[in-house]
Amino acid sequence: MPVTMFAFAPNPGHDKAELYRDLLAAALALTEGEPDGVANMANLAALIWTCLPDLNWAGFYRLATDADELVLGPFIGKPACIRIALGTGVCGTAAATRTSQCVADVHAFAGHIACDADSRSELVVPVLRGERVIAVIDLDSPKPARFDAEDMAGIEALAAAIALRIEA
Ligand code: SME
Repeated sequence: MPVTMFAFAPNPGHDKAELYRDLLAAALALTEGEPDGVANMANLAALIWTCLPDLNWAGFYRLATDADELVLGPFIGKPACIRIALGTGVCGTAAATRTSQCVADVHAFAGHIACDADSRSELVVPVLRGERVIAVIDLDSPKPARFDAEDMAGIEALAAAIALRIEA
C-alpha cells in the first residue's frame, strides 16, 4: 500500500471565503474512502489547526452512546475535560440546542468550561445526522472575538460535509 504524504497548507493570498472553500475541499480529499471515523476526526482536527490562524484548541466532542453527554474526541491542543453534560458550557449548549455558538468573550459566557486558561473566544458547531447531533466541532482562540459569521458559516459547511465520515 503506498504511503501518502499530505501537503495541505493555507494559501496566504486567499480571503476568508476562499480559505473555507479550500478547507472544505481538503477535508473531503483527506477523508475520502476512509471508513474509520476516529482517523478522520484526527486528520480533520489537524487540518483545521493547519489552515486556521490563532487557534489554541481544535477538535471534536462526540455524543456519548447514552446520549446525555459529550465525550472528548480527537483534537489538537492542551489536554481537555473529557465529559461535558448536554446543556453545559459552550459545547454542551451547542449540542443541546443544535445551534452553533460563536462566543466573542468566553469569560462572559455563563457556564463556560475553561480547559485552557489562554482561551478568550470560542466557536462550537454541531455536526448533525438528520436531526440527530453526533458531535460538535470546537475551536478555541487566545484572541478575543477571533471568530465571526464567516467562520461560523465555514465550519458549518465543513460539519455538514464530513458528518457521514466521522462516526466511529
Ligand atoms: N470551553 C468548552 C469546553 C471544551 S474546551 O474549550 C476544549 C465549553 O465551554 O464547553
